[in-house]
Amino acid sequence: MASFKSSTRTIPDTGRVPRHVAIIMDGNGRWAKKRFLPRFAGHSRGVETVREAVRYCLDRRIGYLTLFAFSSENWRRPAEEVSLLMQLFARALMQEVSKLHANGVRLKIVGDLSRFDAELQALIDAAERQTVSNGKLTLTIAANYGGRWDIVQAVNRMAVERPEKRGEWTEDDLAPYLAMSYAPEPDLFIRTGGEERISNFLLWQLAYTECYFTATLWPEFDSTAFDKAVSSYQKRERRFGRTSEQLAAGDGHPADAKIDA
Ligand code: IPE
Ligand code: IPE
Ligand code: MG
Repeated sequence: MASFKSSTRTIPDTGRVPRHVAIIMDGNGRWAKKRFLPRFAGHSRGVETVREAVRYCLDRRIGYLTLFAFSSENWRRPAEEVSLLMQLFARALMQEVSKLHANGVRLKIVGDLSRFDAELQALIDAAERQTVSNGKLTLTIAANYGGRWDIVQAVNRMAVERPEKRGEWTEDDLAPYLAMSYAPEPDLFIRTGGEERISNFLLWQLAYTECYFTATLWPEFDSTAFDKAVSSYQKRERRFGRTSEQLAAGDGHPADAKIDA
């Protein structure tokens, strides 16, 4: 099973654009409320922001964009809102996939998809198949996703497939079973909407990700706001447990093969 080495081994150059950006798109409801609109209007407007974020990543050659669209806890919302969100998701898949495909985007949906109705599951499957060979940008939509669910499903699959190593499983053994094993760990995590929490998003993969929280509501997160997040990232020093002095001496950078062990 192909998977990326953990980014905690080598230190990506933060002067460059992040290779993988993961976003919790929060604040749609509040955006609508401010305008005396129903919450759903905020979710609708949020889809336009998704389009803009994809364009941003294509333009800047960011290879992976992961968006949290629906958490495993969001089923707790009023039934009407859940149902409208499902319809919006299905509509977005129907309307956007050919455009994404034309732009070289590979679409992946991660999460426990078994809870979605058959029609939506078929749309997801078709969208992934159609775009599977595209290489410009991998756009992952996390839907009915939870970080704890991901770790548990990975452990279960590993236990079935590798019973002989029981008691000696390592992080490297588990990583290929995680839902996003096809992507490097996120370099930059963004949460819009002002809350400063992870809300059961990518728990394993965010271990050493640089976090950026902004009060900007998702429907207002335009390319200028995205630029601010990326330039904040570019000013940071990622140490992964090392000291600044070690970094100054060149330890831990990708070119330094002896640290990559
Ligand atoms: C995020 O916006 C979208 C989803 C969770 C589907 P919210 O709907 O959480 O918006 P706020 O937090 O209520 O403003
Ligand atoms: C997190 O947003 C999930 C998504 C954006 C899909 P929520 O608005 O559901 O998070 P909490 O409940 O405020 O933590
Ligand atoms: Mg919210």
